[in-house]
Amino acid sequence: MKPVEIKKDIFWIGSVDWNRRNFHGYSVSHKGTTYNNFLIKDEKVTLIDTVAEEFWGTLQCNIANVLGKDAKIDYFVINHLEPDHAGCLAKAIEKYQPEKIYTSPMGQKAMMAHFHYKDWPVEVVPTGTEINIGSRNLQFIETRMLHWPDAMLTYCPEDKIAFTNDAFGQNWATSERFADEVERTTLERLMKEYYANIVLPYSAVVLKTLKALGEMNLDIDMICPDHGLLFRGKEDCEWVMNKYVEYAEQKPQNKAVIVYDTMWHSTEKMALAVATGLADYGVSVRVMCMKNNHHSEVMNEVMDAAAVIVGSPTHNNGILPLMADMMTYMKGLRPQNKIGAAIGSFGWSGECVKVLNQWLEDMSMEMVDPVKVKHVPTHDTMKQCYEQGKTIAEAIKAKLA
Ligand code: FEO
Repeated sequence: MKPVEIKKDIFWIGSVDWNRRNFHGYSVSHKGTTYNNFLIKDEKVTLIDTVAEEFWGTLQCNIANVLGKDAKIDYFVINHLEPDHAGCLAKAIEKYQPEKIYTSPMGQKAMMAHFHYKDWPVEVVPTGTEINIGSRNLQFIETRMLHWPDAMLTYCPEDKIAFTNDAFGQNWATSERFADEVERTTLERLMKEYYANIVLPYSAVVLKTLKALGEMNLDIDMICPDHGLLFRGKEDCEWVMNKYVEYAEQKPQNKAVIVYDTMWHSTEKMALAVATGLADYGVSVRVMCMKNNHHSEVMNEVMDAAAVIVGSPTHNNGILPLMADMMTYMKGLRPQNKIGAAIGSFGWSGECVKVLNQWLEDMSMEMVDPVKVKHVPTHDTMKQCYEQGKTIAEAIKAKLA
């Protein structure tokens, strides 16, 4: 994709990764992604972020497209050092020989740890620092843990643009550049998926950062994340910021997710009975077997659910490996405000629900009694599962009241 002038003399020069499905090695991006970066033509030509290393050729073409083949770039601003954004940094420094490289205090540390540089012209810009690049100023605001400790936001008051790096991103490879050019339901779903798998553990930081930004009274009419579509116009900027408040608050919906794995289908039968109990008492249910769902797809549903029911048969005195993967991933993302319950079948030792319960308790979930079945469920034990669904439905109703 060619550069796009998003405001006068400010260009999107990113790369579209159409076939990216494994995002960062742990989540699925069914619709690819983009690595957005930006070039500002002013007295001091300024590059904001780079792209993933495999797009170095594209980045050079895009820069030449805007500045000509003898392009000179005076300043680099590096908002985040993760390799999807800083992957071309060393090559770009060597080629364009910038006068200054601006990054946050933690960015400088991360830059050193990644690149072990000796003589780069790095200048640390803590929150509140402002630089002049000619007809514009750039202000820097650290946004630690959105998504790494080094993350920062760059704001240009003259153009009312916030370059937000990972914050407000979505994994969606498109030929369109702006959110108002694409279908909103899909955009919203992909924003939520990105948040659930990347940003969720830092929800408290999101709320604190948005509050601080609000108190700074920044006049923003364009938000440029480093992944996916950009947001233009005050209405869309407010829309995306409000979405982040909604996601970060993690207010549960009338929804339950049953996630399980099964060996000879006993735990699966139990899961379906719990689902029926929940649905009969008015809860919207998602039933997800780990053999057919990636852990990141499960988290997309868990994020706004009021209850999470986890199931596994006992396997080698523990739980099945796909459920161990799921529980590890879920705990790391620190979902809040959930009701939790465990189900599982067993043949002899029967540790499954004890192990699952411990995971749920570690996530501070409000616990409902587990159901455990020896070998194959009977009519009575299926009824116990149904009753567990009903009990969880009542707990959800009380929680949402
Ligand atoms: Fe898009 Fe934290 O990297």
